[in-house]
Amino acid sequence: MSLTCFTKSTRPFEGQKPGTSGLRKAVKVFQQENYTENFVQCILSAMGGSLTGCTLVVGGDGRFFGKEAVDIIIKMCAANGVRKVIVGHDGILSTPCVSCVIRKYKTAGGIVLTASHNPGGPNADFGIKFNISNGGPAPDGVTNAIYDLSKHIVEYRICPEVKCNISVIGKQEYVVDSRPFTVEVIDSVNDYVEYMKEIFDFGIIKDLIRGASGTPLKVLINAMHGVTGPYVRRIFLEELGASADSAVNIEPLEDFGGHHPDPNLTYAADLVKALKEGEYGFGAAFDGDGDRNMILGHKAFFVTPSDSVAVIADNTDYIPYFKKHGVKGLARSMPTGCAIDRVAEKKGMEVFEVPTGWKYFGNLMDADRLSICGEESFGTGSDHIREKDGIWAVLAWLSILAGRKMSVEQVLLSHWDTYGRNFFTRYDYENCESEPCNKMMAVLDAMGSDKSMAGKKLSYGDKTYTIAKIDNFEYRDPIDGTVAKNQGVRILMSDGSRVVFRLSGTGSSGATVRLYIESYESNSSTFTKNAQEVLKPLVEIALQLSKLTEFTGRTLPTVIT
Ligand code: G1P
Ligand code: ZN
Repeated sequence: MSLTCFTKSTRPFEGQKPGTSGLRKAVKVFQQENYTENFVQCILSAMGGSLTGCTLVVGGDGRFFGKEAVDIIIKMCAANGVRKVIVGHDGILSTPCVSCVIRKYKTAGGIVLTASHNPGGPNADFGIKFNISNGGPAPDGVTNAIYDLSKHIVEYRICPEVKCNISVIGKQEYVVDSRPFTVEVIDSVNDYVEYMKEIFDFGIIKDLIRGASGTPLKVLINAMHGVTGPYVRRIFLEELGASADSAVNIEPLEDFGGHHPDPNLTYAADLVKALKEGEYGFGAAFDGDGDRNMILGHKAFFVTPSDSVAVIADNTDYIPYFKKHGVKGLARSMPTGCAIDRVAEKKGMEVFEVPTGWKYFGNLMDADRLSICGEESFGTGSDHIREKDGIWAVLAWLSILAGRKMSVEQVLLSHWDTYGRNFFTRYDYENCESEPCNKMMAVLDAMGSDKSMAGKKLSYGDKTYTIAKIDNFEYRDPIDGTVAKNQGVRILMSDGSRVVFRLSGTGSSGATVRLYIESYESNSSTFTKNAQEVLKPLVEIALQLSKLTEFTGRTLPTVIT
């Protein structure tokens, strides 16, 4: 029996503009009649000629409203001429896994249902992100096209008669408007786990954990009730033989247990506390959709994400994937600490500085100019897929610990001995009013064209910095020449220290100011100092210069990392 499709009339909704990483709004916004359908139709329409007869991947982090969204997407794909939808069991696929599956099965792209590290539940956030055929987030050209379509949409196509059971693994076949249409429900973890086993030597990591040649390494992995739970169970408990108490919060919950599923020192405080007690030698946490990671050593020794990616880039000999494919180049997002630049310089490799957001790494990887990259926001990854990858980062770290036969802290100390230390911190001021934040950014931006700023000395206590240059970061993609403007105001000091201000592009309402501070030290007596103490003078200088408290009314940040 051929199922019938319908064209339904609709009207545009304001603000369906994808941000740093897809469209993120409150669940209640997505639940409005036609809201989700409109946006999905714009994604499908933006695919143009590559839509008819294609295969798409659909999955998400299991948050509230995910299953409803999967159902809508399947019915709309059927009506829009898609040939096949590959969907994760119960709608569950981590963001890195979606990227892996798109690439493995060479599909036209995929739709990721997540608001990443934003809280979930009926009163929290949902998100929809489109990934293209390379497995990575759609670039600006595509997201702008989606947004433009959303402003003029008058109808969408749907086939309500496609009733699909996503709790059953296997193929479900339909005939829609006389065309064949297939939904294939896949195991949420298989493809990803197989790939990780190709990239890393699981035997070596297993030996490290069980202590084959010394003391066992006790690990504690906190999945924060996000999507990584089933991946953690399979990889760390079943494949790598870690004991059952090595993994916590591995049941995915629609509201992440009411917490912020963000792996940082504030929101993963439980992990920090457990590690401080000293029983564990290694700790890690992931965000809701599994692309972010936090790495801790014994007694909660904190590895900044900017250092983490630099260490991985410096130790690729211990990772089979890089021995096989080589390391083609390195990159970081602009606000990320510059530790990786030093590794690139020593190894004679290219290093790229891109705007905030993983989508900017994709072109460089596709052009074989980039292998390892990271963001200060707990994003670390490589060209094995086109998303950042939390579990990959942990496996990379464990491989390095096994190879170097060192603790996390020893690896860092040895890294700083070679390269010096880029002290880094980020202050977030969440949920501010938008208006005053925009004004503050405009004032900072104007400093860039004020000639009297260069050479100006700024002091706090006994520290004095001299401004070398102020600009608003602009990026020209070296592969396709597209330009991204207004990516954050940088205040560059004459000694290489940096202050960066930008507004978040992932919030679902209001504004979040991010202040990034970095200072480089080559004197080894400073390496073990507390980063917050070292950076305090520069933080105070940044706050005075920006008049942040006057503009936002905030005297303290919401989160410090
Ligand atoms: C934040 C991070 C950014 C990351 C993005 C998606 O974006 O700062 O590095 O790529 O989340 O995980 P922001 O809210 O700053 O725009
Ligand atoms: Zn995420």
